[in-house]
Amino acid sequence: MKLPDGPKLHPVFQLINWIARPFEYLEECAAKYGDIFTLRLFGFPPLVFIADPQGIKQIFTADAKYFDAGRTNGPARPLVGDNSLTLMDGSAHKQERKLLMPPFHGEKVKSYAEAIAKITEEVASEWQVNKPFIARDVSQAITIKVIMQTVFGLNSGEKYRQIKPLLVDMLKVMASPIKSSFIFFKFLQLDLGAWSPWGNYIRNRRKIYDLLQAEIEDRRAHPEKLGDDILSLMMSATDEAGQPISDDQLKDELITLLIAGHDTTATALAWAFYWLEKNPQVKEKLLHEIDSLGEHPDPIALSRLPYLTAVCQETLRLYPIAITAFARVAKEDIEIMGLKFAAETTVVANIYSTHHREDLYPNSKEFKPERFLERQYSPYEFLPFGGGVRMCLGYALAMLEMKLAIATIVSQYNLQLADNKPIKPMRRGATMTPSNGVPLVMTGVRETKKADLVAGKSN
Ligand code: HEM
Repeated sequence: MKLPDGPKLHPVFQLINWIARPFEYLEECAAKYGDIFTLRLFGFPPLVFIADPQGIKQIFTADAKYFDAGRTNGPARPLVGDNSLTLMDGSAHKQERKLLMPPFHGEKVKSYAEAIAKITEEVASEWQVNKPFIARDVSQAITIKVIMQTVFGLNSGEKYRQIKPLLVDMLKVMASPIKSSFIFFKFLQLDLGAWSPWGNYIRNRRKIYDLLQAEIEDRRAHPEKLGDDILSLMMSATDEAGQPISDDQLKDELITLLIAGHDTTATALAWAFYWLEKNPQVKEKLLHEIDSLGEHPDPIALSRLPYLTAVCQETLRLYPIAITAFARVAKEDIEIMGLKFAAETTVVANIYSTHHREDLYPNSKEFKPERFLERQYSPYEFLPFGGGVRMCLGYALAMLEMKLAIATIVSQYNLQLADNKPIKPMRRGATMTPSNGVPLVMTGVRETKKADLVAGKSN
């Protein structure tokens, strides 16, 4: 049961390529070895990368008993805590997903639409004409507020002011490859006081957990404070035996959602703004579609617009935020694409290379939302959120957030790229982000917004 061919480079250099230039490296490997190849990254077991829809289908549709993914996420434990869904496998994972699913269901997610549109308006109202800003900072400001509101139910007040800077600080650490290195290397986890990186991280984390605990106890003591947010829904959920989620589990899952849902969506939005300014004909078509809904369109009607949806899909296709789905370890001998693999082989659905297959996406480096209108892609051909039993829990929320933030901004403001410097994808923790964050400038407001300003309807 020989593993498929792959680069012969020393594993240390394979790892360096994977960290420093993952998209180029995958392109080189796909050109040389095809749809299935083995990467040997220093410190990891051999990883069989698969960019064939048939092979991916086999992985995503396999019963959970054939693959574990939680154990390959082990390095994230200091971030997400011991009780995180991302670390679970088998029946524990299945049960936990059932508990966490209701607030993320398509219908439920729609109830967050108004809040997302309002938050986007608030953030954009701070722009000044002709003063450049970084799209990624704006996206991040939007996604952190959306997560605080939808997940924690907090949008103002003392608790919001206490917890937000701590969360922002924690997320900043994770975004920096150097600052976050202690998370992945145990020998760097030395508490040398509040000024040492690890010492600062664990103190910060403890404060967040204490605040979350106080919030949970407060809501439990005052059930009238339970709202429509994800924390409240999770607190009301029970498993098959009628047991509620424990406090430790609640806190770890809250942090998991924050980490999984914040940077990813912020990066996706920054890319979308980049592509729209780079492709004025796409933006024009999009504006035409949004304007067809009239003034003050209903957020749900916006979220159903086909071209807007295609713009978001094409953004997530071209530079997928997650380069691959979670690695899966086979629990017994398996066969994929006619090849036999021994138990304990690790397979990886290669999102980037699948999204750049020329047979599926001709001229794959071009930003062409029309492809998604001309053709229906299967979940094994277009997979920005992974798939199967591990498929991204927050995909409906992420898509809604992208659509409403884009529609709200482009329909009200005239934006331009602030300079013409080339922008490249660059690693930011586990995601691929635009190298300079996309500098934009607001050159004025559109007619619809002007009418509102005159009527004093919005900021
Ligand atoms: C554009 C934004 C996002 C992208 C591209 C993305 C992508 C992904 C991918 C590729 C996976 C792994 C799936 C697999 O291995 O099959 C995943 C898992 C996950 N995502 Fe997302 N995600 C996004 C936003 C969110 C949001 C907004 C949330 C929640 C607030 C979220 C929560 C999760 C969770 C909890 C998991 C783990 C699921 C499990 O282990 O069962 N994600 N995401």
